[in-house]
Amino acid sequence: MRTDTREAALTAAIEYAQHAPSVFNTQPWQWHLAGTTAELHLDPDRQLRTVDPAARLQTISCGVALHHARIALAVAGHGVLVERWPADGPTTLAARLRLLLDHEPTDDERAMYAAVPRRRTDRRPYGDVPVPSAVVDRLVTAAIRENAGLHVLRRDQLPAFSVAGARAGDLEIADPAYRGELIRWTNRPPWSGDGVPPTTAVPAAGRIVPPREFSLGVERGLPPGTGTDRGAVFAVLTANRDDEVGWLRGGEALSAVLLTATANGLSTAPISDVIEVGATREALRRILGTDRYPYLALRAGYGPSTADIPTAPRRPAAEVVHDGGTP
Ligand SMILES: Cc1cc2nc3c(=O)[nH]c(=O)nc-3n(C[C@H](O)[C@H](O)[C@H](O)COP(=O)(O)O)c2cc1C
Repeated sequence: MRTDTREAALTAAIEYAQHAPSVFNTQPWQWHLAGTTAELHLDPDRQLRTVDPAARLQTISCGVALHHARIALAVAGHGVLVERWPADGPTTLAARLRLLLDHEPTDDERAMYAAVPRRRTDRRPYGDVPVPSAVVDRLVTAAIRENAGLHVLRRDQLPAFSVAGARAGDLEIADPAYRGELIRWTNRPPWSGDGVPPTTAVPAAGRIVPPREFSLGVERGLPPGTGTDRGAVFAVLTANRDDEVGWLRGGEALSAVLLTATANGLSTAPISDVIEVGATREALRRILGTDRYPYLALRAGYGPSTADIPTAPRRPAAEVVHDGGTP
């Protein structure tokens, strides 16, 4: 295939990756393109200094974007070599992608690709219909294929998980620096193309696991509907290391799980407050009864139509994709 066609495919894949979900919709990445090579950088200006001082969730978010780009390239018929945290780059350089030989896309890759623009974070409660075990298995397999684990919480683990989540929420809300960061990222000017619109928030009252309080009590979110979450699956993405190498890979796994869920007709919502607070992150490890490290929790289930949810904005590709290699 001609080089200019391959370069166009790389640009298109990176632009498609702008659909990726990220913590507080910060879109904390920058891409640098040089020929048939693309570099993905963490954007230090978009790290949440209070919520995410170690850049764990920022790195996971970059991993999600990386996987979205990988899937788009796979479906366009391109094999890619991915170097994660290459030693010859600056500390912000998370990954380098090089286009290689042609690739025959798999059905799973095609399904994940088609799910990218349909996936939304739905914070409303989901319905009573349980997620069939065959579908749960597909989510677990999607995580394993990306070198992570997905621990599906048993019913008897849910009360402790719920308490840990509520405790994390209480501790965070009591911190003025947290409130400042939350207010900043939920009240973005329309031209910013980022942040969490308060219109996508849902009241936390009466939930099996309370969602993050995004609207700080102001009544302007989504009507929660009639769901109970009784059929929903709560799961925790885990890995065997707790560092930037693992977090990036964990983000790729998160992307695979969310897109597989969407492709199978499920609504999804990431849950990270329980991870952000050190004490509840440790409590979660004890609840899971594992030596592995929890990266992110999530909820998946059969919800109302996601067409009712306002779309979270995205920055134009021109703000995140730059010609030329490492800056
Ligand atoms: C690492 C990560 C952590 C997140 N944590 C939460 C969370 O704790 N609560 C929540 O409601 N959404 C959470 N989200 C979802 C984002 O807020 C959401 O992806 C973003 O606002 C864009 O909206 P979209 O997913 O509908 O495209 C998280 C997403 C990622 C990738």
